[in-house]
Amino acid sequence: MTDAVRDEAQNFVITIENTGESFKCQPDRHLLSAMSRMGKKGIPSGCQGGGCGVCKIQINSGVYDTKKMSRAHVSADEEASGSVLACRVFPRSDLSLSVIGKLQKNIVKKSTKTPWSTS
Ligand code: FES
Repeated sequence: MTDAVRDEAQNFVITIENTGESFKCQPDRHLLSAMSRMGKKGIPSGCQGGGCGVCKIQINSGVYDTKKMSRAHVSADEEASGSVLACRVFPRSDLSLSVIGKLQKNIVKKSTKTPWSTS
């Protein structure tokens, strides 16, 4: 297997339902990191450790693993229903998600702008 084929095989496709955009994420990379590599402005870097809550998302379909998240931002019930922090989520299949909270404000607002928009 060539490196290019291997790289492609290890990437999962993550779809942001709010905007219809998608990005690729390797299983050893958390979603926020891969999302920020899309080059989109407005994605908060935050703590990257599950503590600040700025990267909250809702996973609608797919398989993933999580690391420890602050219960101040994600309750056990929320986590069980797919509401998680992107910086603590590692994909194990293609995923479909919605951005919520502060992340939604930034991503959805930026996506509705046209390239020639001045506002
Ligand atoms: S960046 Fe702080 S919780 Fe994800």
